Order: sequence, then C-alpha cells, then structure tokens
Amino acid sequence: MFANFMAWIDKRLPVTEAWNKHVGQYPAPKNFNFWYFFGSLAMLVLVNQIVTGIWLTMNYEPSGDGAFASVEYIMRDVDYGWLLRYMHSTGASAFFIVIYLHMFRGLMYGSYQKPRELLWIFGMLIFLVLMAEAFMGYLLPWGNMSYWGAQVIISLFGAIPVIGEDLTTWIRGDYVISGATLNRFFALHVIALPLVLVVLVFLHILALHEVGSNNPEGTDIKKPKGSVPESEQSPFKYHESYTQKYDIVDAVPFHPYYSVKDIMGVVGFLLLFCWVMFFAPEGGGYFLEAPNFEPANGLKTPEHIVPVWYFGPFYTILRVIPDKLLGMVGMFAAIGMLFALPWFDRGTVRSFRYRSKWHLLNLIQFSVCFVILGVLGTMPASDLANLVGRIASLGYFGFFIALWFYSKGEDTKPVPERIS
Ligand code: HEM
Repeated sequence: MFANFMAWIDKRLPVTEAWNKHVGQYPAPKNFNFWYFFGSLAMLVLVNQIVTGIWLTMNYEPSGDGAFASVEYIMRDVDYGWLLRYMHSTGASAFFIVIYLHMFRGLMYGSYQKPRELLWIFGMLIFLVLMAEAFMGYLLPWGNMSYWGAQVIISLFGAIPVIGEDLTTWIRGDYVISGATLNRFFALHVIALPLVLVVLVFLHILALHEVGSNNPEGTDIKKPKGSVPESEQSPFKYHESYTQKYDIVDAVPFHPYYSVKDIMGVVGFLLLFCWVMFFAPEGGGYFLEAPNFEPANGLKTPEHIVPVWYFGPFYTILRVIPDKLLGMVGMFAAIGMLFALPWFDRGTVRSFRYRSKWHLLNLIQFSVCFVILGVLGTMPASDLANLVGRIASLGYFGFFIALWFYSKGEDTKPVPERIS
C-alpha cells in the first residue's frame, strides 16, 4: 500500500527522487569527524527556535506597555512557559556556539575554497541575517538591557554623514526607542527574518550538494569519469546525477551512515543543552543578562552596556576605534573580510593538514584574537581593554592580509589522492 501511495505521489512530485539525491544516495566522504556535526546541529537549533518561537508568540504581547509583563506571565503562569522561554533563550546562544564552530571547521579545512565559494557566501548571508534576528529578538522582552543595547547600536547609524540622524529616526520609527520600534522588530523577528533564514539554509544545502562536501583531508571524492577502475570505486549505489559525471571514491551514502552518526551528535548536544537549560539558564549572566530582569527604563542607564556575548568580537572592534564612524566601518569590514575569504586565500590546498606552518600559525593567532575580542566585548571598557582590543583587532584583520600574501606559492605538503 505504501509503495503504491509513494508511486502516486512521485508521479506528481518527485519526493523519492529528491530523497535519493540529497539523502539516501548522496555520496559523503567517509572521513567526516567531530567538526561535521555542527551543520545538522545548526538545523536542529533552527527548528527549535522556530517551534518555541511560535509558542512564545501565543502569549507574548508586542507593546511597550505589555511586553515585559507578558514575558513574566509566560515564565510564571503559562503551563511550561518557563520551559519554552528557556529553550528559546538558551537556543539563541547555542545557535551562535554551533555556528561559530561550523564556520571554524570551514576555515580549518578550506571548505570555502573553489568550488565552494557560493556555499560560503550563502553561509555568510545566513550569519548576517542570524545576527540581525538575534539583535531584534533581544529587544522583545523589553528589559533594561534590551532597551539600552538597542539604543547604543541604533544610534551608531547617526554617525553616518548627512543621512545619519534621519536614518536612526527611520529605523526606530520614533525619536527614541519606543513601542513603535518594538512592533517593527517583532514583525521582523517572528516573520520576515526567519523566512529569509529558512530560504537561505535551503539554498546553502542545494549549493553544498551541487559541488559536494569537503572533508578533513581536503581531497576530492569525485574523480573524473573513467579515471578510476571499478574495483577501486566506492561500492555503494549513488544517485545517477553524481555517477554520470564522476567516479566516486572513499564515500558512503549519507543515509544511513551519517544520519545515524548525526543522531549521536544530537544526543551529545542535547545533554549539554538540557543541562544549561535546566540548571543554568542564565548562562552565568551571559545568556540572560542581569539588567534584563528589570523593565526597560529610558531614565535609568545600566552601569555597563554590553551586548550579548555572541556579538562580542565585532562590538570590541567597533569600540576600540576612537572615531564612531570609523568604528562602524571597522565592524562591518570585519564581517566583509569573512565574506571575501575565498578570494583572500589564493592557495589550492584546502586542509590545514597539508598547508604550511605559517598557515597553521595564522589560523591559531586568528582564533586566539577572535576569542580575546569576544571576551573583551562582554567587559566594561578600560585603557588596558582598549589596548588589548586594538592588538587583537590587528590580529583579526592581519589574518586575511597575511593569507593573501603567503597563500600564493605557499610551501605545502603533497595532498594524498585518496582518503586512507
Ligand atoms: C542556520 C545556519 C546554518 C545551517 C543550518 C547550516 C547547515 C549546513 C549543513 C547541514 C551542512 C552539511 C553538513 C556539514 O558539513 O556540517 C553545511 C555545510 C557547510 N556550511 Fe553551513 N549551515 C549554516 C550556516 C553556515 C555559515 C554561517 C557558514 C559560513 C559562513 C557555513 C558554511 C558551510 C560550509 C563551508 C559547508 C561545507 C563544509 C564542508 O563540506 O567541509 N554554514 N551547512
């Protein structure tokens, strides 16, 4: 009966074909490691955010008068409202942890290099939209840090010459952050940006499957058609869209091999996630900040206005540049450099395993600077913090510039043809 039903569907919509092409007969390199868990985990967290978000919206009131109280109502009176809210707020931080690790994997194994540039660009667009999504979501509980955080960031646009002041008024929909701002952020946070995110993730996966997954060795598992004897090809059945053009080696079908392996990643992730959600939902004051337990108050500025931890690196770059406009340029340039990474790297060897010592050093110094920038972003400004922040910012930008210079003609090791 099921076979007949699927045959009926497939004649009208190629569901089985799509399943085979993208899951059941998708050739995935056989050497995926720990770092390859984070793509599927990002999808899991995205679903978590959307589902818990829908349920939160059922009791949340998007108005300056009612927002804070409605969140308290969700926490105290709605059945399991506290669980929904903590799943959503912990999910926001988990999203960025997962995404930063996912991006770092791409950096280590050169997954942004040819032919995966567009896949990387879609990833970066996702990252940008995700930051906007998180920023707008943070205003919704209408706590005092929500209010002042948004105030600081939106007022930055005032530094833009000529149009700056008008632009900030246009973004806020008022002369100060008000219920009007809250309403529009709510609309963007619950509808517009999640839609864009889902579409971008769909394109991200399509772009990935067009060129195929990279792997920790950075070798190609698709060899030119006819170049590999049949006895050395992967013994599994793959979708004809891959086998028509290539000989596939060193691969396994995504399902059941990686669908099952990813479940292991999900279990590990959920153990950690649930521990934080049930025992430390405030994340030590980093996931939910102390001033946000007080309602928004335009007359009472929190002692230190700092953004949520995941904006830390970019916020520090903004803050350590003395000029407001230049600071903003620096912050956006930091994100822009990541977009352009596939073109800063002029090398052809992907994985750091086969690249020069300089590349390894550069990767390490970049990661250290990124973490330092992140930590500083959650701390109050001081002379010492500014000095360290400036050095770390140089390290951040220096990564890309150095990469551009040494990646051409780099002293690399021979990359094995096959995954041993
Ligand atoms: C909602 C956010 C995202 C989701 C759901 C997502 C999902 C995925 C999935 C399922 C994969 C395949 C499995 C894997 O390789 O881990 C993947 C691969 C990849 N993603 Fe993402 N991704 C997201 C964001 C990003 C971002 C922000 C970037 C970087 C800017 C990025 C860059 C990549 C790259 C380069 C690959 C290929 C890696 C390789 O084959 O070695 N992704 N993504």
